[in-house]
Amino acid sequence: MKFLSLSTSLGLLLPILQATANAQPANLQNEKRGTELHEAPRRKYITLNAHKQNRNPGEYYYKRDGSDDQAYQDITVGNWRDDLYFVDLEVGSNKQKVTVQLDTGSADLWLFSDENKYCGYNPNNVQGIANCEKYGVYDFQSSDTFHLNQSLLFISYGDTTTAKGVMGTDDVILFPNNGGDGELTIQDVSLGVISLSNSSNPVMGVGFKALQSVVDYNLQQVEYDSLPYQMANQDLINIPAYSISILTNKTIANSSITFGAIDNTRFTGDLSVFPVPYPQGKNEPVYVSIVLNRITLDDDTELASGSAYAILDTGCSESYFPEDIIRAIGSTYFQYDSTYDIYYSKCQRLYGTNINFEFSGVSYTVPLTQFVETADDYFVVDHDQFSGQCIFNVESTGDDMFMLGDSFLRSVYMVVDLENGEVGLASISLVFKLLVMTVVSITLN
Ligand SMILES: *[C@@H]1O[C@H](CO)[C@@H](O)[C@H](O)[C@H]1NC(C)=O
Ligand SMILES: *[C@@H]1O[C@H](CO)[C@@H](O)[C@H](O)[C@H]1NC(C)=O
Ligand SMILES: *[C@@H]1O[C@H](CO)[C@@H](O)[C@H](O)[C@H]1NC(C)=O
Ligand SMILES: *[C@@H]1O[C@H](CO)[C@@H](O)[C@H](O)[C@H]1NC(C)=O
Repeated sequence: MKFLSLSTSLGLLLPILQATANAQPANLQNEKRGTELHEAPRRKYITLNAHKQNRNPGEYYYKRDGSDDQAYQDITVGNWRDDLYFVDLEVGSNKQKVTVQLDTGSADLWLFSDENKYCGYNPNNVQGIANCEKYGVYDFQSSDTFHLNQSLLFISYGDTTTAKGVMGTDDVILFPNNGGDGELTIQDVSLGVISLSNSSNPVMGVGFKALQSVVDYNLQQVEYDSLPYQMANQDLINIPAYSISILTNKTIANSSITFGAIDNTRFTGDLSVFPVPYPQGKNEPVYVSIVLNRITLDDDTELASGSAYAILDTGCSESYFPEDIIRAIGSTYFQYDSTYDIYYSKCQRLYGTNINFEFSGVSYTVPLTQFVETADDYFVVDHDQFSGQCIFNVESTGDDMFMLGDSFLRSVYMVVDLENGEVGLASISLVFKLLVMTVVSITLN
């Protein structure tokens, strides 16, 4: 749940966070534009495998064997509470291995320093544990290519976790196509060396610069070229843009992020391009986001229409809707339990039901089952009365905006163009296409 805290957390970040909490899309004329995919003379792209895993493995209270394979079992309903997507990297001259969470909802790459005092396992406090052993720690002193910056990272996420530390640069080694294309070094990548964090894992934020959480020693905000920009600076890709497909299971392909290109084997139909709305009071994109215009059900019943600000956040396992939308969907498909304030239904009854999300007249279909959990997964302790039931698992944003996390994003192919402030969406391909992958460089403009 690495969406940035929408309320106040660190005074320093207040200007950005406040503006966004009252976010009103500035440009409501969200025209659909045709995408022009120009075949670039030189194809430059970097595809990294993302693996899905449970963020808090080994914990007793989700009744989950958090191993990768378990998470990947062919699950047709629910069971993805806390599943997130991770990328493996190596950092520094001595190639220290780390695993970072892929996050479009933040904009800084940071690693646990070997001194992070929250490393370890504390059974009385399941949350707030940095799983340093699993995700790896980074000892900057042992890397000859590390340089310290005169700046600090202070970040606070929507799940209350925080990270504080110094910024530096070091070489980051990537393994495109899971090592199939060898290794690739991106030099002098800015990264946070975090000595104080209770996040369970380090993060690779790939959002817009305006969302960066770095300040200089006078506490003035500093913007810098993050990993996608460094790839472009070093001429490994044409522009700082990337596309992401996160999948439910690995029967089709692996989840992945492709920097610098769109992989046309990963989606069906058209890829539509949308300008990223600016939060009120801002003159640039801040969140990877889109204007949501309409929600409909299978029978075309309209649940909502208008213009709402919707954040597209891979770092958030679940999705968050405005309260009235939750109630509208809940009362249509589920029974209500007032004791727990939950909507529940026999899982079987939910199969084949979809929710359609429309952006500027283009609609994307998401199975309702993406938004439910089995009662076993949902409750911390057993609740026999809900045995065999599925719980509608979308929480309230507390205002008019939407947070579309992995439960939404698994149904789309998403392109993010950091340079031109645009996002592209297409329906994810559910069948493996026996095509030669034709990758085109991203030129959305
Ligand atoms: C695996 O994922 C694909 C795409 O989401 C889905 O169509 C298929 O039903 C899934 N397989 C199972 C057994 O759930
Ligand atoms: C993480 O640390 C912050 C700051 O100390 C605290 O407010 C928050 O509750 C902690 N979160 C968890 C999940 O432990
Ligand atoms: C760190 O220093 C390098 C080299 O001067 C600079 O390119 C980079 O932008 C700086 N990063 C931050 C976060 O200040
Ligand atoms: C998919 O992931 C698995 C496990 O990480 C790996 O062995 C395999 O090579 C990957 N496939 C591709 C096409 O990258």
